[in-house]
Amino acid sequence: MPKNLTVVVLAAGGGTRMKSKTMKVLHEVGGRSMIGHVLNAVRAMEPERVIAVVGTQREQVGPHIQQLVPEAILAVQETQDGTGHAVRVAIEAVSERLEGTVVVVTGDTPLLRGDSLRAFAEEHEAAERAVSILSGIVPNPFGYGRIVRNKEGDVEAIVEEKDATPLQRDIGEINSGILAFDAEFLIEALTKIGNNNANGEFYLTDTVGIARDAGLTVGAYAIDDVSQTEGANDRAQLAALGRELNRRIVTQWMKDGVTVMDPETTWIDADVVLNRDVTILPGTQLLGATVIGEDAVVGPDTTLKDCEIGQGARVVRTHGELAVIGDEANVGPFSYLRPGTNLGARGKIGAFVETKNAQIGDGSKVPHLTYVGDAEIGEGTNIGAGTIFANYDGTNKHRTKIGDRTKTGANNTFVAPIEIGDDASTGGGTTVRRDVPDGALAVSAGPQRNLERWKERRAAVRDEPPASED
Ligand code: UD1
Ligand code: CA
Repeated sequence: MPKNLTVVVLAAGGGTRMKSKTMKVLHEVGGRSMIGHVLNAVRAMEPERVIAVVGTQREQVGPHIQQLVPEAILAVQETQDGTGHAVRVAIEAVSERLEGTVVVVTGDTPLLRGDSLRAFAEEHEAAERAVSILSGIVPNPFGYGRIVRNKEGDVEAIVEEKDATPLQRDIGEINSGILAFDAEFLIEALTKIGNNNANGEFYLTDTVGIARDAGLTVGAYAIDDVSQTEGANDRAQLAALGRELNRRIVTQWMKDGVTVMDPETTWIDADVVLNRDVTILPGTQLLGATVIGEDAVVGPDTTLKDCEIGQGARVVRTHGELAVIGDEANVGPFSYLRPGTNLGARGKIGAFVETKNAQIGDGSKVPHLTYVGDAEIGEGTNIGAGTIFANYDGTNKHRTKIGDRTKTGANNTFVAPIEIGDDASTGGGTTVRRDVPDGALAVSAGPQRNLERWKERRAAVRDEPPASED
C-alpha cells in the first residue's frame, strides 16, 4: 500500500436533483449512506489521513462523517467553486505540507470497493506518475469529463462535457472523478488552475493539462467494473444503484452457501451476516446488522432489522426489529417482534402475536393472538391463546414475570406488575391482578350459571302482545 497516503473525499456539492431535505451523499442504499460506502472503501486503503470536504448542509454531513471515521479531518468549502477549489480547501485544512500520494474520490459512488481503490493507488505509485485517472469506458458518456489521448495513446487532458468539441463528445473513455496525485505536484498545480470555462469553476481535472505541459507523466487506469464509479444524482439513479448493489450482495451470499429462492425479491443490507445453509424465501428484507444462523429458514414476506436469528430457526411472514430468536425456535406466520424481544431455544412466537421487551425462555410458547409486553417468561411455559400482558396503566409501564413450566389459560389478562410462579396454572378468561404462587391455579371468572330453556323462554316473551301504555 502507498506510503504516506492522503485521501480527499469530496462531499460539498448540493445534489439538487435529489429534490430532498437530505443531502445527496446521505441518501442510503443497502442500509448505509452513499458516503458511508465510500468511506468504507477508503478505510480499506488504510490511509495516513482522510480529509472530507463539506459545504452544503455541512451540519448534516459533517457529524455523519465524523461518526463513521472519527479521525477524519473536515475541511469546509464555503462556496462550491469547483472540484479544484475543493481539493485546495482540503489541503489547506492540514497544517503540515502533504507528501506522498493524494487520492481524490467523490462521496456519491456507493458501489466503490476498497480493493479497486487500492489497486488504483498501487498502480499510480508503481508508474511514478504526477497524475493518474481512474477512467472507465461507458456506453453513454454524457455529462462526464472525457479522457483525451494523443496519437500515441498518451493522456493529454480531461475535457468537461460543456467545454468539449463535438468530436471530443464522442469519446467513450470518461473520468470517474477518482484521481491520484503526487502530493508535491498537486499543491503546485492547484495554484495554477483558473476558472475560465463554461461553468466558471476551478476544475481539478485541469491539473492533467498542467502536468502534460510540464512534461510530467499522466496516465489513466480503466476500471473494468464501471458501476463502481457510478454516482447517483437523482432518485432513479439511486434506486438503480441500490438494485445493483443488492444483486451483488445476494450473489455473494449464494456463493458463500446461502439458498436464495428469489434473488429479485430478496433485499440484504451490506452489514447483514448470514451463515451456511441459510434459506431465504421470496419477499424477504434483511436489514441493518441482522445475523442469521446456520440452517435457519427466513421468509417468505419477512422483514428483519437488526435481528439475531439462531441456528435452525424458522421465521415465517414476520416483521421484526432488534429481536433475538434462539436456535430451533419458530416464529410466525404474522408475528410482530418489537425491540427487546428475546425468544429462547426451541421456543415459539406464533400467529398474530406481538412482543416487546419480552424475555421468553427456552422451550416456552406464545402460540396465538397475544400481546406480550415488558415480560419475563421462564422455560417450558405455555401462554394460552388470546392473552394480553397489560403492561401500561396509562402513565407507567410495568413488568410481568412468569416462571417455568407454567400453563396459562386462553383469554387471560395479566395486569402488571404481577408475578406468576413456576408450575402454576390459570383458568380460561382469568384476569390476574394478584401474584400467583408456585403450583397454584388462579381463576377469576365467576361461577357459570345456565339459564335452562333459554331459547324457548325468549321466544315466549317475544310472542306476547306489546305492553299497553296506560
Ligand atoms: C466531475 C469531473 C468530471 C467527472 C465527473 C465524474 C471535474 C471538473 N469534473 O464532474 O470530469 O467525469 O465528476 O462524476 O472535476 N464538489 C465539491 N465542491 C465543489 C464542486 C464539487 O465538493 O465545489 C464535489 C461534489 O459534491 C461531488 C464531486 O465534487 O461529490 C464532483 O462534483 P460535480 O459537480 O458532480 O462534478 P461533475 O460535473 O459531475
Ligand atoms: Ca457528478
